[in-house]
Amino acid sequence: MPARTTNATHGTPAADPAGPAEPAEAVTPLLRGIAVLRELTEADGTLSLSALERATGLARSTVDRVTATLARMDYVRLDGRDVTLAPRLAELGNAYLAALRLPALLSRRADALADELDESVSLAVADRDAIRFIHQATRRRAMSLSFRIGDLLPAERTAPGPLFATEWTSADWHHWHTRRASDPHDTAFSAVPPLPHPTPDEDFTRRTARAAADGWALDDQLIEPGLVAVSAPVRDPRTGRVACVASVVSHTSRHTAAGLRDDLLPALLSAVSSMEDTLRTAPPPEPGPVPAGLAVWTGASKQELGRGFVESLARGLTVLTAFGEGRSALTLTDVAKATGLSRATARRALITHEYAGLITPSSATDRTFTLTPRTLSLGFPPLSRLSLPQIARPHLEALAARVHESTSMAVLSDSGEEIQYTARAATSRVLSAHITVGTRLPAPATALGRVLLADAPQGYALTDGELEAGLRSLAVPVRDRAGHMVAAIDVTLHAARGTPESCVEELLPALRETATAIEADLRAAGRFRSVPPV
Ligand code: PHB
Repeated sequence: MPARTTNATHGTPAADPAGPAEPAEAVTPLLRGIAVLRELTEADGTLSLSALERATGLARSTVDRVTATLARMDYVRLDGRDVTLAPRLAELGNAYLAALRLPALLSRRADALADELDESVSLAVADRDAIRFIHQATRRRAMSLSFRIGDLLPAERTAPGPLFATEWTSADWHHWHTRRASDPHDTAFSAVPPLPHPTPDEDFTRRTARAAADGWALDDQLIEPGLVAVSAPVRDPRTGRVACVASVVSHTSRHTAAGLRDDLLPALLSAVSSMEDTLRTAPPPEPGPVPAGLAVWTGASKQELGRGFVESLARGLTVLTAFGEGRSALTLTDVAKATGLSRATARRALITHEYAGLITPSSATDRTFTLTPRTLSLGFPPLSRLSLPQIARPHLEALAARVHESTSMAVLSDSGEEIQYTARAATSRVLSAHITVGTRLPAPATALGRVLLADAPQGYALTDGELEAGLRSLAVPVRDRAGHMVAAIDVTLHAARGTPESCVEELLPALRETATAIEADLRAAGRFRSVPPV
């Protein structure tokens, strides 16, 4: 991994050499929390406490308090010496994506194009002189790397880059020249391989002029050998400006860059034109509910955890969740009202987020603020790859530790005749040692299978020795945000533990709580993509 730029002395986000100085009113604990989340994101989701200490330059006691606060918010998980990003953190990036509205309006068309062409399709927005992905319809192929929602790429090594650069201001070009001069190998971009031989700046200015003339652009292996892409801009019908760029991504084993243009550009342009129709005809967004009771919650956590809970960090992060669908441009008053924070606290949080690049003034006349794409740098790329078993595992482990019995998750096989175990947390009292992840069993003989086959509301199933004498299993469904059953979870125990009735009475509440916790994480992680069930 290439080295990255952080301000090691203060543990604040990488200072932009051309950017403003830290404002006197910035909330230092909030900047530290943001730095910790960014380092965890760059490290693909997990770091030890001591690695975090080194990466941020913060004192160990500060890292401890920041991570304890983030854990209390369910934004990270503490596991011994390791800190891991937790699915709930996706709500920060979700706030940006919901406020932006483009994924909700355009991702279905992007997915349809990927199906039509059997190639990956992505949507990206401009993030200063870089591009950031807001949607990925990925065809997993062994040949090349694929990017995640929230990944940041240098504009000049992509096909969307020159299309965005057609609208750059002279300040943007200046920023770009400065960045290239100070980081010629792209070491600040962890999602791409380092650039072995820096290219002249003129290559990109020439490609930008071409993109302006053509209305589309190519990437001929600018990121890595083999990776090719063709891109076209999706314009905002009200302003005529580029709202996002749609790309079709392929590999030279299937298409040359010129072949992409000849064979796939027409389908891309037609998809883009229907995306623009969608933007033109979309009804105004319905404002969603504002997060409830946050100020009360942080106050209670402070009471409980005392010095270990950094209230200004928790309050500052909740400011980001005030944004969302139909709440894309908020005034200070709006933010204070949505979060329950005082105006003074909300104002300092906004100043801090603006300095960290997460919030920007959207209009000088009505004094509103909007979230920036950089909000996705707070955990989104690693969280956007989580599968359902990965989301469920910590919850199954907690349940197994609580009830001292083995727990599992399973899905139905394609034929519907078998269940397949997808996650498992065994205890020392393990009875059925032959069950591991991947094991298949006849669905009707298992409680998991009966729940999956019945798909009934509020159901549970209990089996008592059907599969194996003396073995009892209690199972409940796990549902996604649309209410569709996506898996079932169970507790297995020895029949000697009690009567079937007492087993239900003792274990069902804990099992249901576990299903609810998995469902909450799934809602956060799956709001803007489908979470793989296995
Ligand atoms: C991608 O979506 O992975 C992608 C898009 C445009 C590029 C390269 C990769 O130029």
